[in-house]
Amino acid sequence: QTLPRLYHQNVIDHYNNPRNVGSFDKNDPNVGTGLVGAPACGDVMKLQIKIDEESGKIVDACFKTFGCGSAIASSSVATEWVKGKSKDEVLTIKNTEIAKHLSLPPVKLHCSMLAEDAIKAAVKDAEAKRGKMNGSSKAAD
Ligand code: FES
Ligand code: FES
Repeated sequence: QTLPRLYHQNVIDHYNNPRNVGSFDKNDPNVGTGLVGAPACGDVMKLQIKIDEESGKIVDACFKTFGCGSAIASSSVATEWVKGKSKDEVLTIKNTEIAKHLSLPPVKLHCSMLAEDAIKAAVKDAEAKRGKMNGSSKAAD
């Protein structure tokens, strides 16, 4: 085994085969979209969550990241971690946990920060949409 122990095979796999690459329809009322950029390097990450109305849980997630390998791997881990959780639960996901999971070096910490910010932005978008829906549901009847 030549790999350092921290890089267990699944983590390496996030670099080689990122999970959940793609897009959801951002106009879907159950989809929250987070779009964030890193001023330091200009990389951009879009992360989307799909929420089950009944349970309030995130049932699916996807991302598109125009950025470095660490940003892509961070997005991949983030989409895996948010699935099955509530919006409140995913707001507690810290970039440092993602960075630790991927053994990112300090110069790459901001890449994992993008993922934390993107999760928060996606939740915010989902909540803004819900608010709007509740406000206008009567008018639509
Ligand atoms: Fe995939 Fe942990 S190795 S989230
Ligand atoms: Fe900026 Fe990775 S170098 S996101």
